Amino acid sequence: MSVIAITGSASGIGAALKELLTAAGHTVIGIDRSHADVEADLSTDEGRAAAVAAVLERCSNVLDGLVCCAGVGVTAPSSGLVVAVNYFGVSALLDGLADALSRGRQPAAVVVGSVAATQPGAAELPMVEAMLAGDEARAIELAEQGGQTHLAYAGSKYAVTCLARRNVVDWAGRGVRLNVVAPGAVETPLLQASKADPRYGESTRRFVAPLGRGSEPREVAEAIAFLLGPQASFIHGSVLFVDGGMDALMRTKVF
Ligand code: NAI
Repeated sequence: MSVIAITGSASGIGAALKELLTAAGHTVIGIDRSHADVEADLSTDEGRAAAVAAVLERCSNVLDGLVCCAGVGVTAPSSGLVVAVNYFGVSALLDGLADALSRGRQPAAVVVGSVAATQPGAAELPMVEAMLAGDEARAIELAEQGGQTHLAYAGSKYAVTCLARRNVVDWAGRGVRLNVVAPGAVETPLLQASKADPRYGESTRRFVAPLGRGSEPREVAEAIAFLLGPQASFIHGSVLFVDGGMDALMRTKVF
């Protein structure tokens, strides 16, 4: 059985994944702001470093799986926080735990992106280049200038997807597979907050996939568990949309 670290394990998709993997006999190290094995704030350098150190201690420097699931949505208090958690909270954990993963058994990592990454214009946002350059202060400054949390969200999810894909050669050299799961609407507290928001509520409620419903957190967790496991042994650098057909509907000819 494997030792797998999951950020955002206290709620939603991360909590469903923790339950699924624990029931399958794996040892899960949950990371979150509270109600977790490792309690840390992934929006800060200190919190990220503390999270990495605590995971390394708990796994004795050998990790079989990592899932970067923690994230904040469009109702976050600021665009800067969206960038800090959704991009830099992921890149720091990937960097900090890559060596431990390279010592693991059939190791794999999954980044939780979003179908929002494919939103028109997301790729061209100046904040994206700053994120990919690793310049957190500049990325936050640009995100705050833009002011709209939904743009910061789309930009952060686009950038974090590029980050994972650009690591394919490096991580293959370490023997670690790395993939992205891009959920559509998932019935979690994050989505409920968007639906209740005066700015984003209506568009969120109208965002209904061809399958006619949002997914349960467990349905996304199952896809992540698949990508972590041996059945996915040749899947590397992929983006798996778990979105009820939303991406195929919006971008039929792009794949
Ligand atoms: P959620 O709100 O239920 O869970 C997110 C978890 O991340 C929470 O436990 C929260 O405490 C943790 N977190 C947030 N900021 C943190 C910080 N600074 N430090 C440590 N932990 C922090 O949300 P959900 O829906 O389960 O989201 C999980 C991931 O799925 C996120 O990355 C989100 O962007 C992504 N996603 C969600 C969709 C949805 O419709 N719910 C759609 C597409 C992507």
